[in-house]
Amino acid sequence: MRLTVHPGAPLWGTMRPPGDKSITHRAYLLGLSSEGVTVVENPNPGADCEATLACAARLGAACSRTKDCVEIRGRAGSLTEPDRVLDCGNSGTTLRILSGVLASQPFFSVLAGDESLHRRPVARVIEPLRRMGATLSARDGDRLPPLVIQGAKLKAIHYDLPVASAQVASSVLFAALGAEGETEVRLPGPARDHTERMFRAFGVAVESDARNGSGPRLRLEGPARPRGTRLMVPGDLSAAAFFLAVAAATPGAAVTALGVSLNPTRSGLLDALEEMGAWVERRPHASAGEEPAGDVTVTGPERLRAIDLPAEWVPRMIDEIPAWAMAAATADGRSRLSGAAELRVKESDRLELIAANLRTLGITVDEHPDGLEIEGGPVGGGTVKSDGDHRIAMAFATLATRAAAPVTVDDASSIATSYPGFVEALSTLRGQVEPLSPRRAS
Ligand code: S3P
Repeated sequence: MRLTVHPGAPLWGTMRPPGDKSITHRAYLLGLSSEGVTVVENPNPGADCEATLACAARLGAACSRTKDCVEIRGRAGSLTEPDRVLDCGNSGTTLRILSGVLASQPFFSVLAGDESLHRRPVARVIEPLRRMGATLSARDGDRLPPLVIQGAKLKAIHYDLPVASAQVASSVLFAALGAEGETEVRLPGPARDHTERMFRAFGVAVESDARNGSGPRLRLEGPARPRGTRLMVPGDLSAAAFFLAVAAATPGAAVTALGVSLNPTRSGLLDALEEMGAWVERRPHASAGEEPAGDVTVTGPERLRAIDLPAEWVPRMIDEIPAWAMAAATADGRSRLSGAAELRVKESDRLELIAANLRTLGITVDEHPDGLEIEGGPVGGGTVKSDGDHRIAMAFATLATRAAAPVTVDDASSIATSYPGFVEALSTLRGQVEPLSPRRAS
């Protein structure tokens, strides 16, 4: 579907984003692995998390749904061999973390997904899980999905991750639940820590030592049996990010996101917008569990300043770079992003797409192997490409509110992977959205 948004009044108002996608995936997979019942309140309703839940059901978990809650009766570490391919859809998190869950199961499974998922690297999970004793193989010399797993009795490993990926660290930690002995994972840089926090909520101790100048060292003693629990998923800052970034980019705009995750490993975008001169107010809630949450208001200043985004901030806002780039496109001066090569292997090559689409809208952008230089300026109208990437689609649809002419996103259907209510939220914040129209044949 094509999505066209017209320029209009500055974004204004209050929104409540859907539950956090990263946290929901983990809750479903821990629920599946646990003993007893897990209740997940406010889960993310997007197709990615639905794919994880469907995989959990295929592996034997009894899953039921009430309004705003999903209940999962876990398999206490002993899953059912799936009788068909496990469909991870568009979701790299499902594929990578589920591979860790399956590595310790004494059966055969195949993980596959859509066209975009089949372009995403899997060698990074194959390597550690093989060392633990599972047999894995994948297409194109073990580089790309589908991923085939024959699980086994695992041994603990001490492993240095080559990339600071929370998905890969999580995959190893899930495998470590079924391995004998102490597994240690050392990350080369910081990464989101939802898995460590959630394991603790399920009664499994994960030690995390910060190390000077690099990422944490995580340790888990296996085998360990998580116990089902009740969890409240905070709102997804990555979903609110588009509105907050474009509010920062628009004089007179003010957007409040209610109940969002304020986990410091994820909130780099707020720091970046503040550094650029936006007014960012965080109002933390009294702690509701393992994950900090609160309300955030971003108000757009008269002029936003360009910044050199410090490379060490990038992991804390890796999924928010498309949103940040929209703010950079409107700032005074040249903003620089570096240390972001991972963006080339997300749902799309995000560096290439951000650059191409901003140029379509009249912004000067230089593309580098690991980053971008964006010269802020007047944003024009035009048709941009999403390449099936939800975050690219939402970023440009939101930027359209402060463009000089309408912006059309050629394919917006991917938005439903993480944020089915996005168009309604944009309208509520005064975005001038045309009814969705079918995509034209190209
Ligand atoms: C995620 C981790 C990040 C992020 C992805 C979700 C997670 O990927 O980009 O959208 O839930 O663990 P990497 O772990 O590959 O950096």
